[in-house]
Amino acid sequence: MVSGTGSNLAALIAAHEDPAYGARVVAVVADRRGIRALDIAAEAGIPTAVVSVEDFDDRRLWDAAIAETVAVFKPDLVVLAGFMKLLGATFLERFGGRIINTHPALLPAFPGAHGVRDALRYGAKVTGCTVMVVDEGIDTGPILAQAAVTVEPDDDEATLHERIKVVERSLLVEWVGRIARDGLRVEGRHAEAGR
Ligand code: GAR
Repeated sequence: MVSGTGSNLAALIAAHEDPAYGARVVAVVADRRGIRALDIAAEAGIPTAVVSVEDFDDRRLWDAAIAETVAVFKPDLVVLAGFMKLLGATFLERFGGRIINTHPALLPAFPGAHGVRDALRYGAKVTGCTVMVVDEGIDTGPILAQAAVTVEPDDDEATLHERIKVVERSLLVEWVGRIARDGLRVEGRHAEAGR
């Protein structure tokens, strides 16, 4: 599921070309039209769908509709690869425990939509990225993996985010593959690959 430029999606698509990777991107579902991520999916011949909040009177109806849309493709795992909307109760009832997300900060520091900007403004010297299992909170789910990135004195939000994204996409690709091959085990706050 995507909302933006799709660099994480592109890395997943590159990885899935290898049958040994264990995962295939069966579909790409977005919450908005006209984004680069949808072009990347289309160029790779992957089915796409858009379910936009603006097309619904009520956020719960959007949540139910996007859950229905995702269900059409029968995914084993739902990967939020730069998906910028909070999923609601209906979606979580349907796919909970098999949704993972990637966030451009070392959670629990700097959750939300501006993880890079917030770390920079706070004056953090080290930030990074987190791959986690999605729960009902904002970036509060059990953590699967993290990687650190040093903040350089002359960084702005764009330069720091670009360096985080390099590390982030390899971490996301690694963990989607591990989960596809080995399963996903969650016990309380502890998440790992395995059955
Ligand atoms: C990624 O850095 C991802 O962590 C972030 O959006 C970017 C998407 O990049 N997601 C969040 O901030 C979620 N809270 P991409 O569209 O190029 O993959």
